[in-house]
Amino acid sequence: MEKNFKRTLITTALPYANGPVHIGHLAGVYVPADIYARYLRLRGDDVFMVGGSDEHGVPITIRARKEGITPQDVVDRYHAIIKESFAGLGISFDVYSRTTSPTHAETASEFFRHIYDTDGFVEKKSMQFYDEGAGRFVTDRNVVGECPVCHAPGAYGDQCEKCGSSLNALDLINPRCAETGNVPVLRETEHWYLPLDRWQADLEKWILEGHKEWKTNVYGQCKSWLDLGLQPRAVTRDLDWGIPVPVEGADGKVLYVWFDAPIGYISNTKEALPDSWEKWWKDPETRIINFIGKDNIVFHCIIFPAMLMAYGDGYQLPDNVPAMEFLNLEGDKISTSRNWAVWLHEYLRDFPGKQDVLRYVLTANAPETKDNDFTWADFQARNNSELVAILGNFVNRVMVLTHKYFAGTVPAPGTLSAEDTAALAEISRLKAEMSTALDTFHFREALKLAMDMARTGNRYLQETEPWKVAKTDIGRTATILNVAMQIVGSLCVAFEPFLPFMAEKLRKMLNTPALSWEAIGASDIIPAGTVIATPELLFEKIEDDVIAAQMDRLARIKEENKRNSWQPAPQQPDVDFDSFCKMDIRVATVTDCIKVPKADKLLRFTLDDGTSQPRTIVSGIAAHYQPEDLIGKQVCFIANLPPRKLRGIESAGMILSAESSDGSLVVIGPTGPVAPGSQVK
Ligand code: MF3
Ligand code: ZN
Repeated sequence: MEKNFKRTLITTALPYANGPVHIGHLAGVYVPADIYARYLRLRGDDVFMVGGSDEHGVPITIRARKEGITPQDVVDRYHAIIKESFAGLGISFDVYSRTTSPTHAETASEFFRHIYDTDGFVEKKSMQFYDEGAGRFVTDRNVVGECPVCHAPGAYGDQCEKCGSSLNALDLINPRCAETGNVPVLRETEHWYLPLDRWQADLEKWILEGHKEWKTNVYGQCKSWLDLGLQPRAVTRDLDWGIPVPVEGADGKVLYVWFDAPIGYISNTKEALPDSWEKWWKDPETRIINFIGKDNIVFHCIIFPAMLMAYGDGYQLPDNVPAMEFLNLEGDKISTSRNWAVWLHEYLRDFPGKQDVLRYVLTANAPETKDNDFTWADFQARNNSELVAILGNFVNRVMVLTHKYFAGTVPAPGTLSAEDTAALAEISRLKAEMSTALDTFHFREALKLAMDMARTGNRYLQETEPWKVAKTDIGRTATILNVAMQIVGSLCVAFEPFLPFMAEKLRKMLNTPALSWEAIGASDIIPAGTVIATPELLFEKIEDDVIAAQMDRLARIKEENKRNSWQPAPQQPDVDFDSFCKMDIRVATVTDCIKVPKADKLLRFTLDDGTSQPRTIVSGIAAHYQPEDLIGKQVCFIANLPPRKLRGIESAGMILSAESSDGSLVVIGPTGPVAPGSQVK
């Protein structure tokens, strides 16, 4: 049974201020949260939407060291970019602050201290890797070595990416610090742990019994954590970037980033509403919804709730945590470090005025129940064949016809016919379905229903043909265009949560004040007599060259990544010296070189190998050389391979070449002239 709530607090995962925001973040968290917030506001609900940057954690310190700047410089830079780009996309935060704010330091510190004072933590000693050269502890993630399970090199201290095993850093074979290359030593350290086991029963009751309605991916992840049995989790770290542990003698220790960050939701509410923040967090009649990506589930459903329970004092737990799956880009996982992303600030620069197109595509394709793919081809298709051809087209037709037949004034209707009332009833039916979809976080479905409203409008015009009726019956034309205009008004509201920029532009053209969700489907949203502006197109076609430019950018990034990730092949097993000596490697001078006809890859070499007989060798390097450029050059070849026939040509040996990181082949020869036939030793 739905409880009756007085207000809704919407939180959005705080993005790390370690890079800009990309379409994966948007599709997973910020666009759905914003749709939800705007929908509730249209319904007249009391809503507060919290956001902010997550500015602590080890990766920020690594980035700072790499660039020779301070962690504060790093987060200042990205917080500004992130905040501005969210505003650019119309994400309607009621507050967007940051975890380096004084209010946050104070709030998080007090939060820890209160749990500490009420014996909510346990203290444990453990051994941790320490980098003596750098004078600091190294987190598990920043130690690399051989995987103790599959023996692959380059496994991280917390996980081997090769075999997927989760690891204990202390088990790595030949561990090294990822950043410095130093061999770490073991040092004892002491940390505070949140004993999640103490909260196991309460969490089970709250989630497994109380929230069966949560999305199956969320419920399922919680259940498997709970079934495994919860363990105490360290909530402090040995690090010099973060909120100092507010306990005597805890110098050099800070709160773990996942301890302080979710408290940021509270601090940021407090910062914005210093006098009334408590009702948003402690009143049982407040409903709290956490929008997050799937990698954040355990932190929001288990750890943060356990922190809130440990703190007590009336803090409310989230009512729902509608986590999304991941969005991929053109078939590959989005990655900040590999620059495989569409960055929001770059999108806003490259597509000015097209914020709604991105919002639309990310919602239509939202990874609600499974990972999904963003492609530029789909982006173009959805813009051209949905936004332009269905929604934009309908609105434009109605406005143009109103200007043509009624000089831009919404005409008064006569008696409605059956098809008129049917069209309006269809809008009301779609509205009811949309409300249900939005109430249950099915945003793709809700958007599809909104587009069905526009389809209904187009169908209505096709059936009633006001441009034909106008020739004989201007009274009936007035009724049709009035009804069509009401559908336009409904669309303006129904699309507002998804396409707020379009809605505002349309409202201006319709000379209409802000409308409420209730208005959808009504027969008098846009009153007769309203003078509308000259219509401007709501959406414009996106041409092929624009899409091609984006695809080129991605292709360049792919190339760059290939080059950057190239590594020399692993060394071959040892050979004995005798085997090596058996290879007869010699130098020859190229006396002739031609392409082998009808073979793309092959060049036919004629070599002077110092003997009286010319030697012929066929080599597969035609893609890398113009044959005439090789004539006169000296090359190395293996002389004692058994001859082979290639395309009918007998090839006596093999010319040596090196394969470079981009796959290109370069022929190997002596660095100075030598007598043809000289042996290579
Ligand atoms: N910065 C985290 C991430 O990007 C999310 C933090 S959410 C919060 O995965 F609850 F901790 F704020
Ligand atoms: Zn492994």
